[in-house]
Amino acid sequence: MSNTKTIHQHYLLNTYSFRGKTFVRGEGMYLIDDQDTQYLDCMTNYGVSIFGYNHPYITNALQDQCANITTLHCSFANDYRAEAAKRLVKRAGGTITNVYFSNSGSEAVEAALKFAMLTTGKRHIVSCINGFHGKTLGALSVTHAPKYRSAFEPLITDVDFAPYGSIKQLEKHISPETAAVILEPIQGESGVVVPDEQYLQQASDLCQQNNVLLIADEIQTGVGRTGSFLATHQSGINPDIVCLGKGLGGGMPVGATLVTKKVASHIPKNSHTSTFGGNPLACRGICATLDMLTIEQLKHVTAMGTYFLESLNKIDSPIIRQVRGRGLMIGVEVSKSQTNILQQLQQRCILACPAGEHVIRFLPPYTITKQDINTICADFYSCVQNVH
Ligand SMILES: Cc1ncc(COP(=O)(O)O)c(C=O)c1O
Repeated sequence: MSNTKTIHQHYLLNTYSFRGKTFVRGEGMYLIDDQDTQYLDCMTNYGVSIFGYNHPYITNALQDQCANITTLHCSFANDYRAEAAKRLVKRAGGTITNVYFSNSGSEAVEAALKFAMLTTGKRHIVSCINGFHGKTLGALSVTHAPKYRSAFEPLITDVDFAPYGSIKQLEKHISPETAAVILEPIQGESGVVVPDEQYLQQASDLCQQNNVLLIADEIQTGVGRTGSFLATHQSGINPDIVCLGKGLGGGMPVGATLVTKKVASHIPKNSHTSTFGGNPLACRGICATLDMLTIEQLKHVTAMGTYFLESLNKIDSPIIRQVRGRGLMIGVEVSKSQTNILQQLQQRCILACPAGEHVIRFLPPYTITKQDINTICADFYSCVQNVH
């Protein structure tokens, strides 16, 4: 359809920054446009396509499931849904015992907030400055950026925002009325901000001392993105609630809210449900994704992440302020136009995404190779030389 772009722009509600391209298919690391040009995809739909496009194992699993059953309400049991829940609990480990399935990251956060309120009988939530947890009203209440929230205030929960990375400040915001602290192990949307090594452990201790639940929003950091199944595994903490989404469903829309036995015991029947949540197609996607997410695969994420960070750090440019990240969640903070660099990369057939005001974010598929990274870094070098 040659006029797809025009139709898209005419009929879709214009809430997204349009990047000017029409893609018709994907293959491995690449998205292919309507002119048959290949784009090396380090944006992966903001971290969804963790095994690239059309991966035969995932595609076969989803096709097979389409031919069996795609939708089944959670008031009935289903083989792949049960399997997905069991395997997620096992992979999360620690004190996690149960899963609630939904259809997006924001919904996973909505559920987490409601579960925290039900468990504690309290409503006050502490989130972090520059934290991002989604744009539905509940999730937006704990999302910090005024550009997303100000038109909708007052929002629905009693929320305070503590500076990210400071335990002293977090402590100041916790009160006897606090139900939970919600935080990202690495802040994604606001610029790939990696806290000090001790921060998550100290935040977890603080929550325990104050009888406050800890919600880890692992929607971006989870499912292997930082080199372990959960980023919190690297800090050795056991959050009371973990939110997952993005790449969990093999490209199918999915959200998951993982809880401990204590939290599970406080959630009454019918207090939170979803028509599509836990549909067998998405759950088959989860099972296929977990099959693919082997120890070797996670080691590859760590190794490629290290190589990517090292390669970006070798780029000598006065406009690069900092290269940071963990695993394949990488940000380059620049002093000049982020948009211009992203556009130049796109002209060179490389897709990356923005984070915060000054960061170029790379969220490549876990199948990325050193050769791909060399190509990206060579092009990135040319882009930063030409930026104005
Ligand atoms: C940490 C985090 N939480 C929540 C969300 C919201 O997820 P969704 O866009 O699937 O609703 C995102 C999305 O980028 C995210 O990065």
